Amino acid sequence: MVSSWEFVSEQRQKLPVLATTETCAGKTYIVTGSNTGLGLEAAKHLVRVRAKKVIIAVRNLKAGEAAKAEIESATNNRGIAEVWHLDLASFESVKDFAKMATEKLDRIDGLIENASIALDKFALAEGYESTVTINILSTFLLAILLIPKMTETAKRFNIQPHLTIVTSEAGFAAKEAFDSVKDNLMTKLNDPKTSDMNQRYALSKLLQYFAGHHLATLLPVSKTGVILNLVNPGLCRTALSRHVRFLWRLQIVTVAYLLGRTVEMGSRTLLHAVVAGEESHGCYVSACEVREHQVPSWVNSEDGRKQGKLIWDEISRVLETVSPGCLSEVL
Ligand SMILES: NC(=O)c1ccc[n+]([C@@H]2O[C@H](COP(=O)([O-])OP(=O)(O)OC[C@H]3O[C@@H](n4cnc5c(N)ncnc54)[C@H](OP(=O)(O)O)[C@@H]3O)[C@@H](O)[C@H]2O)c1
Repeated sequence: MVSSWEFVSEQRQKLPVLATTETCAGKTYIVTGSNTGLGLEAAKHLVRVRAKKVIIAVRNLKAGEAAKAEIESATNNRGIAEVWHLDLASFESVKDFAKMATEKLDRIDGLIENASIALDKFALAEGYESTVTINILSTFLLAILLIPKMTETAKRFNIQPHLTIVTSEAGFAAKEAFDSVKDNLMTKLNDPKTSDMNQRYALSKLLQYFAGHHLATLLPVSKTGVILNLVNPGLCRTALSRHVRFLWRLQIVTVAYLLGRTVEMGSRTLLHAVVAGEESHGCYVSACEVREHQVPSWVNSEDGRKQGKLIWDEISRVLETVSPGCLSEVL
């Protein structure tokens, strides 16, 4: 776990830009939620370093087109960014997007699963609490549906594509919220009475880490050719808190103003993760390094790993219902 001192000094660190023309030119990337914030900056950089194609995967096509225009004017590189529709609140949308990516893209070198939402009110999407649907279920559904295409890319081009899930150190502060739901996870996450919405975003990020880590153990690079890592961008000055109540937002914005990275600086962590080496597989990467030592011991312990398996089992049961056979194709 990170001490306050380590957190502040890490926040102030100037991070390197590790995705370069050398590593990214001619490659194809998908960045979810790239109409704004960290996703937009990461996509802009990938266009700048002459990726062949960068898919701006967004729920709002108009916002996606505005992002594309901003990217093209900032980089002077046209014809690289493409706007595709993806709404993680709809399983059909995720399946349609994955089908289109599988059929239309020649290759997928990197999938940055950046889109997430922070909500403080309980609402359902696809029969699950919306944060759970968007940040967890659809995020892993998209991963599972696109891994075969990434494995095919790995074999055809003799490379290691990256599946990068954007998580958060905030998740490690959600132990209490996790302890209160872990014995009956999906049912409790779905019950407004047992849902502490003040903790829901952080809890969703913890569950992403647990499930992502476990999935990486099921899918070693030797089997799929794909590197799966979990990146923490640190506290950044984005508008992520725009959906929560005013006073809470004010607190977050104030702390981010004092300690937050600029959006561009934060995006460098995503860019590192999408080119990181095999040693990052299954790992927590932060400040452009593998930083597994920052994962609290209750998460990395033997018991934590068992929890990771149980969480993955619950998620995979839902995925199998939503898209029958999707897991057997990959695992
Ligand atoms: N900012 C931070 O301090 C911080 C810290 C740690 C981790 N993170 C993580 O970094 C990632 C990017 O966040 P950000 O700070 O850049 O926030 P942001 O500016 O709010 O970006 C989030 C993106 O996710 C998209 N999104 C939300 N719901 C969606 C849905 N149903 N379907 C498809 N896309 C959806 C948003 O689209 P709309 O514009 O249409 O809403 C937006 O493009 C997130 O995973 C977040 O958890 C951020």
